[in-house]
Amino acid sequence: MTTPLFDLIRHEIAHDGPITVARFMELALGHPEHGYYMTRDPFGLEGDFITSPEITQMFGEMIGLWSVVVWQSMGRPDPVNVVELGPGRGTLMGDALRAAEADPDFMDAQRLWLVETSPVLRDAQKKNLMQTMRMPAWRDSFAETGPGPLLVIGNEFFDALPIRQYEKTAEGWRERLVGMNAAGDGLAFVLAPGAADETLIPETLRAEAEVGAVFEDQSASRAVMTDIAKRVVEHGGAALFFDYGHFEHGLGDTLQAVKDHEYADVLAEPGQADLTAHVDFQQLAEAARAAGAEVLGPLPQGAFLDHLGLRQRADMLMMHADPDVVQVIDGAYNRLTDPDQMGVLFKVMAVTRPGFAVPPWGGGEG
Ligand SMILES: C[S@@+](CC[C@H](N)C(=O)[O-])C[C@H]1O[C@@H](n2cnc3c(N)ncnc32)[C@H](O)[C@@H]1O
Repeated sequence: MTTPLFDLIRHEIAHDGPITVARFMELALGHPEHGYYMTRDPFGLEGDFITSPEITQMFGEMIGLWSVVVWQSMGRPDPVNVVELGPGRGTLMGDALRAAEADPDFMDAQRLWLVETSPVLRDAQKKNLMQTMRMPAWRDSFAETGPGPLLVIGNEFFDALPIRQYEKTAEGWRERLVGMNAAGDGLAFVLAPGAADETLIPETLRAEAEVGAVFEDQSASRAVMTDIAKRVVEHGGAALFFDYGHFEHGLGDTLQAVKDHEYADVLAEPGQADLTAHVDFQQLAEAARAAGAEVLGPLPQGAFLDHLGLRQRADMLMMHADPDVVQVIDGAYNRLTDPDQMGVLFKVMAVTRPGFAVPPWGGGEG
């Protein structure tokens, strides 16, 4: 099936030659008119996939309470910027703010920023946050949020940012690009004719890679992480990221498309399916450290949420609930924490000013 975006991409390839995987992702997800996120609300049963805050209110509540405790440890700065990257429907922030009402001083001090490029999702966020009576300021990028002490939250944000792919061939490393297939009626992966800059690939992986191995470079994510880390070091605060991916650099093609809750062909319907890649937490951690910040974790999501008290929160909610609701709450707890579900594949990493520990790695005494 061709899509409006396919025609645009075909045109770009005809004009300039094959495009990078990063450019393909940028267009497929973020093209102002036809990009996947720009045209729809993809969450839930009716949509293409589901995320932790859409599974249960407890996820956002935990993050809200974490934010209050970290703010108290920071010395209760007023104002404090609370920034969410890629807030989806705004569900996480709505639940977090409700839980954070436990400390009215925090609620008075917080200045809310949502970093979101999709107009459709900005609308959904507006509707969701209306009930909290706390209206955020929207920005297209983290760089446009205000100065000062900050708390940054991102759930499944980095997995949506563009990656570049490099493949080991018998002649050395080549960049993987998106070009036209032999028949000229569809897209196909092709290799750049020239050699890639090998220093982009971590030395340990260069040594072990066999022909056909793929390395994914997350320079777009690293650039955002560098910005965040610099701000945290300069102004104080912490950032907390949840994403699925691996602790250390690895080899493998993790680019995937999801549509109607099923895997789909990455190139078949640009703009109609979600595209993500596993997050290489080592790349993010190295970028944060290079900017002078301290990195805590990553921890598996299940362990992180259990340390924060997710089980106790679930038990509390279940205490007065009907049996069918008890089942839903318990199911949500398991989904987020079970090693066979989201408990291990998803990981949590914090970035702070050096010497500033945050729960569950320490801190929280404030
Ligand atoms: C996988 S969704 C996660 C949504 C939400 N955090 C959740 O857990 O439900 C990715 C989010 O990032 C946004 N997004 C994608 N690329 C972005 C970019 N380059 N800048 C800002 N937001 C982006 C999407 O519109 C969406 O809100």
